Amino acid sequence: MYGMVNKAVEDMVCLHHGEAAWERIKARAGVDVAVFLSNEGYPDEITYNLVAAASEVLGLPEETILIGFGQHWVLHTAQEGYGGLMKAAGKTLPEFLRNLPNFHSRVSMIFPKLQPPRFQCTDVTDQSLKLHYISHRPGLAPFVVGLMQGLGKMFRTPVTVRLVEAKAHGADHDVFDVVWTPAPAA
Ligand code: HEM
Repeated sequence: MYGMVNKAVEDMVCLHHGEAAWERIKARAGVDVAVFLSNEGYPDEITYNLVAAASEVLGLPEETILIGFGQHWVLHTAQEGYGGLMKAAGKTLPEFLRNLPNFHSRVSMIFPKLQPPRFQCTDVTDQSLKLHYISHRPGLAPFVVGLMQGLGKMFRTPVTVRLVEAKAHGADHDVFDVVWTPAPAA
């Protein structure tokens, strides 16, 4: 994955636990990269190892780290670094979610070697939809949960996310039930 992902993990850890914790996590993960370059590709293994080491060093389940990382990704990495892209994708949570299937094609203009996930929306109502997440990378469903929670905070829209079909349990891909509180009529 592009270095910006590992940088974002670093940013999240340093923000909440300090630089000393980040150095311990890197050492535990066997990562001897001093500075991650945003535009450079790194093996996915590095990111997975960092998450596993963060879980051990901080004494938190990996799932908790990934959910926190999803929130951090939306509320810091994306909003602070790519505010224009985020704004262009929708003014409300449901609009943003409906545009999610096309979102990374724009990101690919900045990161041409991106290997993005695919998203599809089905069963759309005015307060819910099913979000299909199709990825060749295993184990990232909790990251998607955190992303949805981050978007809920970004749009100040209470949202609940439930994994209803899991690739880890034999489904073709992960499917989430996303339910939000509709905005009051203007
Ligand atoms: C402008 C904001 C964003 C940027 C710059 C961005 C960029 C990236 C990058 C660089 C990766 C790593 C893949 C690679 O390097 O090949 C990635 C992966 C991913 N992104 Fe985004 N992204 C953004 C917003 C979002 C949003 C809003 C969502 C969903 C709500 C999302 C969902 C994901 C997921 C789930 C992955 C994991 C990769 C996988 O499953 O294969 N991203 N993105």
